[in-house]
Order: sequence, then C-alpha cells, then structure tokens
Amino acid sequence: MNHSHSTEFGEILALFEDYIDGGYRRTRPERTAPAAGSGSSQPATADSRRPSAVSTVSTAAVSPAVSAPPAAPAAELSSEQRAAELRALEERVRSCALCALHQGRTNAVPGVGVLDPLVMVIGEGPGADEDAQGEPFVGAAGRYLDKWLEAINLSRTENVYITNIVKCRPPNNRDPLPAESAACTPYLARQIELVRPQAILSVGRVAGTLLLDSDLGIGKLRGRTWSYRGIPLVPTYHPSGVLRNDAWRRPVWEDLKRLRGLLDERLSRPGV
Ligand code: URA
Ligand code: SF4
Repeated sequence: MNHSHSTEFGEILALFEDYIDGGYRRTRPERTAPAAGSGSSQPATADSRRPSAVSTVSTAAVSPAVSAPPAAPAAELSSEQRAAELRALEERVRSCALCALHQGRTNAVPGVGVLDPLVMVIGEGPGADEDAQGEPFVGAAGRYLDKWLEAINLSRTENVYITNIVKCRPPNNRDPLPAESAACTPYLARQIELVRPQAILSVGRVAGTLLLDSDLGIGKLRGRTWSYRGIPLVPTYHPSGVLRNDAWRRPVWEDLKRLRGLLDERLSRPGV
C-alpha cells in the first residue's frame, strides 16, 4: 500500500468513523431489537412484502444465458455442486455478449466472495476500476463499502458475496438501460439461489428498485426490511452517493445496524 493510497483510505474512513466509533461495537451489548423488522413501527416485515418483491429478477424470466446447463433446483444441490455451478456461471459472464454492454467492457465483473455468506451485497454495475480489474467494488466506493461491512463485523473474504445488477460497465457510469438489466438479471437470480445468503444488502436506487420491483425512491425504500424470495433484503444508499452527501451517513448506519440485528436474530435461531 503506497502513501497516497493510505491517505485516501484514511479520508474515506474518516467519513464514516463517527458511526463506527459510536456504533455497532459499542452499542452491541445494548441491542434490544427483538427481531428483524418486528417490534418497531416499520410496516414492512419481510414476509408481508414478499408478494410484491421481484418480478424483475425472477427465474421465470431466465434466458438461455442461465438455463444452458441443466438447471437443477438449487435447493437440491450440494455445496460442492453449487460452488461448481457458480464458477461456471462466472465464466459465462466473463464471455457474455447478451447485451450491448459487452462491447465497451475491458472485463466483465461477475462477483466475488464466499458461498453461504451472511450477506450478499448487490450494487448497480461496474465502474472504471471494476472494469479494469474484473472485481466488484474495488474503487473508492468499494473501499468505503468495505468499511461499512467491517463496522458490522462482516468482510468480503469471510462472510460476504458481492455482485451487481449488470456485470459489464455502462458507458460513463450511466444507469443500466431496462434491456440491459433485463438481459443480465437472470445471472443475478441464479447467483442468489446458488450462493444462498442469509440476507441481502442492496446499495443504491437502481439495485433497490429492481430487486423489489418498486417505483419508490431509495429514500422511501430504505429504513425497513423487505424480502427477496424469502430472503430479508435491506436497501440503503450507494456508497458513492454517501461519499458525496454526508447527510446520508446516519441513515446508512441505521440500515447497517438493522442488517446486523436481523443477522444476529437469525444466527441465534436453533438450526441455522
Ligand atoms: N458501483 C457499483 O454499483 N458497483 C461496483 O462494483 C462498483 C461501483
Ligand atoms: Fe452479458 Fe450482463 Fe454483460 Fe450484458 S451486462 S453483456 S447481459 S454479462
């Protein structure tokens, strides 16, 4: 790590440390939330929202992109089979030409992380750094995201899987077009089935609204726990947006605490 990188990292950390220092590690013993989405005034428990969640990213829409190999129900696959299919899916993504975004890419960015993670983070699409390296969230937003994860005792190498709605970089980081996200989301739907996260953290408007098939803005989606096919989904702002807007730091920290609370609740259940 060279000096300028350390400096930049320190600045990014400083943007969040109020909420880390005053945050999860200190408040954990006082945590009283009885269960994700319950015991509060939040209207949307996971299950009550299930019917509205996700027609956009649905296996019903699976294209030849994902159904090429025998598409066994993921529930019946061993973890070895899931790992192998995930690697095969990542390879297909790397050579995919199903939408126009393949023309401008240096590298497709399938995803990174572990099988059976506590959290799957879903962003919008690769930026310039991700396109150059073939890995998600490796630029400034990614380093900030890593601090968010660290603040709730998560890490991309141990208990997280990270990916995006579209796997190839949209030109000038514009929003993915509907045809592009429609072409790409079958990959994501299968990744979620294969990876089997305990919870999903969507970052930014594009991921939140697509996953929840909602027209609500991210400011309205965030602040509660939704459900993607029975998996609790916590939407929050995008780290690159928060880097530009300090006012979003506190709500993000609240969302992260909500996420940690629901993980702790799940982990405390017998048999999980
Ligand atoms: N922003 C995203 O949404 N995804 C990445 O992988 C990087 C930046
Ligand atoms: Fe294929 Fe998705 Fe890349 Fe489009 S964005 S070319 S669908 S991997």
